Amino acid sequence: MTGEKKIAPFRGSFFGKDVISVEQFTDRKEIEDLFKIATKMKRSVEGRKERDDLKGFCIAELFYQPSTRTFTSFLAAAQRLGATYIIPLQEMTNTSVAKGESLPDTIRTIEETTAADLIVLRHPEDDSAEKAAAAARVPIISAGSGKREHPTQAILDLYTLKENFHELAGLKVTMVGDLKNGRTIKSFSKLLALVSRKVKLSFVSPKSLRAPAELIDYLQEKKIEVEETDSLEEILPQTDVLYVTRIQKEWFASEEEYQKVKGSYVINAELMRKAKKKMIVMHPLPRNDEIDTNFDSDPRAAYFKQMRNGLYTRMALLAAVLRKTA
Ligand code: NCD
Repeated sequence: MTGEKKIAPFRGSFFGKDVISVEQFTDRKEIEDLFKIATKMKRSVEGRKERDDLKGFCIAELFYQPSTRTFTSFLAAAQRLGATYIIPLQEMTNTSVAKGESLPDTIRTIEETTAADLIVLRHPEDDSAEKAAAAARVPIISAGSGKREHPTQAILDLYTLKENFHELAGLKVTMVGDLKNGRTIKSFSKLLALVSRKVKLSFVSPKSLRAPAELIDYLQEKKIEVEETDSLEEILPQTDVLYVTRIQKEWFASEEEYQKVKGSYVINAELMRKAKKKMIVMHPLPRNDEIDTNFDSDPRAAYFKQMRNGLYTRMALLAAVLRKTA
């Protein structure tokens, strides 16, 4: 039963596909199509319109790592699309996982016991979504796979960016924080590379938390201009999009190692005086101390809008994967 299913490129359609990596996008038109659906979903939500796209469908959520935004927005997205059955499992440690059941077995189990039409999975292993997709007969959507990918976050990030900047060419996008362990910057920068060759990427991190060489190589192969530095002050004044990330404590070997880099970059109202007036600050959240709350009321703070866009884009994706015409 396992190992047969390949991760398919979208090639113009999401219908019936797994969503595991932003590398499945083959053309920017696919993302534009998805954004059109997302905007339709936004109108439905804002107009309190009841939808029945997923009437009769069952969606299961399996989260092996903590989550607030991704979990609740998928749950709300399924409800808002009128899914009849929703199986939200946020505490997988309380399941037979505690008895040593493997991920493929758990996936097969959930498929059988719930008759789910789609499974949303968050898991600490890099290749978990691939493994789950190989075991499952229904589509798997990754809600975060280890340190490698977070495709739906990248989709909502790009949607937010495009709401603010209609033209991506020439934009300087600066990713700051834990670029080694964070999965969001990996998916987001690869997706940016797909939609525009002319985006300029700056990676700002402590030396020990630099983005993996494979990511830099991937971007350079796609002819994207990439620079790496540890100085935010140098880059900030030219930045159009500042994408801030949390230092990912859970991946550190010791508290001591974490303390060495904790608080490396803190965005606050004072620092942001050095930034452009027309730029945005994004963050996948949750935050620790890397964005001071004194910046939250600044019109350039886009991280609250990102969260709402997560609802619209996840609605769009669920509908597009499960219905031929979303
Ligand atoms: C991120 C994640 O889980 O990768 N959170 C999210 O989904 N918005 C970022 C993080 O945990 O720092």
